[in-house]
Amino acid sequence: MTENNSVKAQTIYLKDYRQPNYWIDQTELDVNITPGLTHVKARLKIRPNKSLANEPLVLVGEGLTTHHIAWNGRALGQGDYAIKGDSLTIFLPLSEGWLETEVSFNPEENTSLEGLYRSRTMYCTQCEAQGFRKITWYLDRPDVMSVFSTRIEADKIQCPILLSNGNLIEAGELEGGRHYARWYDPFKKPSYLFALVAGDLACKTGSFTTESGRPVAIEVYVEPKDLDKCDHAIDSLKRAMAWDERTYGLEYDLDRYMIVAVDDFNMGAMENKGLNIFNTSCVLANSKTTTDLGFQRVEAVVAHEYFHNWSGNRVTCRDWFQLSLKEGFTVYRDAQFSADMNSATVKRIEDVNVLRSAQFAEDAGPLAHAVRPASFIEISNFYTLTVYEKGAEIVRMLANLLGVDAFRKATDYYFSTYDGQAVTCDDFVAAMEYACAKDFSQFKRWYSQAGTPEVTVSDHYDADANTYTLSFTQSCRPTPETEHKLPFHIPVAMGLLGDAGSLKLQPKDFALSDDADNTHTVLELTEASQSFVFSNVFEQPVPSLFRGFSAPVNVRFNYSEAQLIQLLKLDSDEFNRWSASQELAVIAVNAALQEPAAFRVSEYWLEALSVIIDQQLIEPAVIAYMLQVPSVSYLHDRSPQHDVLAIYAAREKVVKVLAHSLENQLTTIACCYDANAAYQVDAASIGRRALRNTALLLLAHAGVPSASELALGQFRSANNMTDQLAALKALIVIDESDITAEALDEFYQQWRHEALVVNQWFSLQAAVESEKALTRLEQLTQHPAFQWSNPNKVRALISVFSNQNVTGFHCDSGAGYKWLADVVVKVDKSNPQLAARLVTPLTRWAKYAERGRTMRQELARIAAQPLSKDLFEVTEKALK
Ligand code: PHE
Ligand code: ZN
Repeated sequence: MTENNSVKAQTIYLKDYRQPNYWIDQTELDVNITPGLTHVKARLKIRPNKSLANEPLVLVGEGLTTHHIAWNGRALGQGDYAIKGDSLTIFLPLSEGWLETEVSFNPEENTSLEGLYRSRTMYCTQCEAQGFRKITWYLDRPDVMSVFSTRIEADKIQCPILLSNGNLIEAGELEGGRHYARWYDPFKKPSYLFALVAGDLACKTGSFTTESGRPVAIEVYVEPKDLDKCDHAIDSLKRAMAWDERTYGLEYDLDRYMIVAVDDFNMGAMENKGLNIFNTSCVLANSKTTTDLGFQRVEAVVAHEYFHNWSGNRVTCRDWFQLSLKEGFTVYRDAQFSADMNSATVKRIEDVNVLRSAQFAEDAGPLAHAVRPASFIEISNFYTLTVYEKGAEIVRMLANLLGVDAFRKATDYYFSTYDGQAVTCDDFVAAMEYACAKDFSQFKRWYSQAGTPEVTVSDHYDADANTYTLSFTQSCRPTPETEHKLPFHIPVAMGLLGDAGSLKLQPKDFALSDDADNTHTVLELTEASQSFVFSNVFEQPVPSLFRGFSAPVNVRFNYSEAQLIQLLKLDSDEFNRWSASQELAVIAVNAALQEPAAFRVSEYWLEALSVIIDQQLIEPAVIAYMLQVPSVSYLHDRSPQHDVLAIYAAREKVVKVLAHSLENQLTTIACCYDANAAYQVDAASIGRRALRNTALLLLAHAGVPSASELALGQFRSANNMTDQLAALKALIVIDESDITAEALDEFYQQWRHEALVVNQWFSLQAAVESEKALTRLEQLTQHPAFQWSNPNKVRALISVFSNQNVTGFHCDSGAGYKWLADVVVKVDKSNPQLAARLVTPLTRWAKYAERGRTMRQELARIAAQPLSKDLFEVTEKALK
């Protein structure tokens, strides 16, 4: 980054953290909504922070027109305060008292989807991280926690529903067709958890009784047309509530739990106290319009937001550098929940796929940052895979190092000690240390050092002494925040396989952890280089390393094909069986890269897969994943010296060989497997559909003649969205132009009234690899159903194209890059957060050699324009 002064001035550092000089104990809002203009009166009960007394009170506000300011009922005059940019400074010496302000702004013109804005038939808010300052002058920081009461007033016909956090205290009619409601939230909370909704909404209800007997009214608010898509969210919420009682001993604490579905939303959902606001894509579901993945996403996101009620709301973050305190922990909690509700192995495979193909790339790129970053310009840019997913891996490692009981003791301690407080990641780790008498000071490097550690392992078998030695070295490439990394504390869950399966572990110079069953243990790697010796090993073993992906690292062990096949066949850890299959796929792709004409795919691998399909001893969903060749992004990381289009082509070849060799079995599965089963959305049914549709797609890739008929038959007869979309996808791959075009058209006509299905239809087409991809994309943006103001639509086309359409985005002319750059600049004018996310693929330029130069040029072209803070930070860092 060119260290210009403005950037320096705008950068906020963790090391500069200080407590606020005033607290706000109570917040009384009066929000008066009229079309085109909303007035907000705020009464804030101010209390000086004794340790920092005698400094002026400085509030933040953005885009507010200020009409009135008073202290304890007395209007302030000219010399008493100053408004400069986004800050309001009160010069009066303040003791405890009430500050009143009145402001106005126009939600209808707020396209940033932050603060109070309008979406279709409703007004709604989004305050995390710093949106509350667009509603009123405030100490908009998470360590200022306040009790909120909110009065909302609006037109009764336009906005029959008026909601805010907590309990409804009072509601009534006013003259002129207006009405009001008053809400009171008894729990102290930071401003980022404030929410308000006013609009014309229908409501679907449910109920739950907590363990201690508190009845909770569940209310899901949606547009009337979506009333038939609420049941799954309500059921998921009830399951999540019961699970959190069982697993963490945590109960819900209010009488009402409200969820509102909003079509225009930058993220997945938001955990506002008692009033969650959800992107429609993460809450609405029914079997006709929603895929299996969609159902599982709704279940996971509903649970995630619910779990925040404790990990985030009751115990919140001291400052935004601690974001992973709530997000990493809550992602870990929702992953545990999904694993319990569905299949643990499948959930782990899905999460590891995301880590390996997306989080690792983030950690290897110019925007790499620590899970607890040391600085930022715009905090919205830090809602990342690193803070969320890698943050969850950190909690997972801690949980595994502690074991179930000690981890529960730690979380009990954490929630009871810090209830009602705004705390730090250090406090979280301290709670872990409290419960297990371990020292996690080295472990905490996971929070401060960015980058994916690389662990290289070698082994030595001494047949005379019957000892087996595993030697580890760890390293981590420099990342912007740290040049030289200190060693990480890395748990290595492992076992040893012999010819007939697991070997008993006899550690020579280290202690087995308590829960070891003798064939499995967790080694704790803490040095840059470290060896572990096992004794009484009577045959040359194959090591099964990092079982269940026990740490977010890149593992390098020089496995032979035969060893990988042994792992695939015999490992007691299903996750590692899948992982071995992926590794064999990587080997095959690399062979195809090296020798495009005469490469071979291990027949032993293909045979092992064939046996696995036949035996059906592994759950179908896992088999489906075993049949999937890793993503281009992951393959690219494994063969960085090769061009991305060559990798794409090599991958296609391997997919074809795989499909051809398993053609008979795949055909049986695709046409007959579970085909007439009644439609259900339990994990087992979902897994069977996944296997059937994976088989269909493989046949399509292989160009097997029967695939076309199979796909078309399934497309027409499907009684659920999963099967119909999978068939359509297969038809696209087969690409018999008339049939495919017709099916796409038919699909649109069938579903054009369902916005979320239309988004899937957009995505499918944005991902079609072809020379005409860009033209097609351009045309789709002209489609009447497309809207630039709706983030879901923009992501459905633009993010899918630039992240998934390898040949389209990376086409030789550079037109894909240019197109994305133009889009980013355009979107930045209305929605900076969205723009800063869309630009991500260009920031990865360094991976792309020649092509990377063109990508970088496009980034530079973006950076030369006047930009939002959000986009400025991302482009500057990416160009550094
Ligand atoms: N806190 C939300 C979650 O992870 C995400 C979010 C962040 C939503 C910022 C909106 C704005 O559950
Ligand atoms: Zn979250």
